[in-house]
Amino acid sequence: MTLWNLGSINADFTYTVPHFPAPGETLPATSLVRGLGGKGANQSVAAARAGADVQHLGAIGPDGDWALEALAGYGVGVGHVARLPDTPTGHALIFVVPDGENAIVLNPCANRAITQARALGWMAHVQKGDTLILQNETDAGAAAASAAREAGARVVYSAAPFEAAAAAEMLPMTDLLIVNAVEAEQLANSLGTAPETLPVPELLVTRGADGATFYDLAQGQQVSVPAPKVTAVDTTGAGDTFAGWFCASRDMGASVAEALAAAAQASALQVTRPGTAAAIPSAAEVAAALAEG
Ligand code: RIB
Repeated sequence: MTLWNLGSINADFTYTVPHFPAPGETLPATSLVRGLGGKGANQSVAAARAGADVQHLGAIGPDGDWALEALAGYGVGVGHVARLPDTPTGHALIFVVPDGENAIVLNPCANRAITQARALGWMAHVQKGDTLILQNETDAGAAAASAAREAGARVVYSAAPFEAAAAAEMLPMTDLLIVNAVEAEQLANSLGTAPETLPVPELLVTRGADGATFYDLAQGQQVSVPAPKVTAVDTTGAGDTFAGWFCASRDMGASVAEALAAAAQASALQVTRPGTAAAIPSAAEVAAALAEG
């Protein structure tokens, strides 16, 4: 089936710095990597590299053709992405410190110029059994999720970057919620509940170097996976890689445990390389690493 991903497309400017800049400090970077990013685009690339049929839904400006070429080069369908004449493509300034942690400043631009009418037009292509993937970096997510549900599709929602109001609107239409540990706490606090009792049928919590846990909240079951031990150079996009790879694996018939293992391995490889989408490994690389154990 098709994974439709209504998600952001960004130009990522990743600066390696000795530490995060303090207020008033001018800090020389030691390197710059420019490339494709955006939580949505990263998830689409991961899902396509895992082998799924992925159609990206989003928007770029007149300066963004390179991003579509990059997405298509990774096997992502880009035939529905809007080219907006008056709004630049989104971009992100990313600072990465020596332990691989990052801080990100976003300028959403075209990602926040997606109308509800356009999103509903996209949803007319969604079929029963397809999956709609969403994050919090674009507009019209709730309208799209509602329409996708009506079409018989499954909705996967990453509440990232965390926004309490957006999450509250999305949860009633969400089949699988994906959050990192910090977002899980933020969401649970905003709803006055515990992370394990969030009101969704399925919950996936990623914990970086501490692995991830999938909760089947309807059945009261959970499956955890450790994170392979690696030396991280840049953790940007690791969660997106996990989410996209997990969704693709499940869509292609993998069990929850198999999908978790593959997604954890893909993320572990991704953080050993600088950059975001370009750092996402191939299916062959993930398979080889899994075989090595
Ligand atoms: O999750 C990482 C992503 O967040 C980056 O690629 C950046 O563009 C922002 O969207």
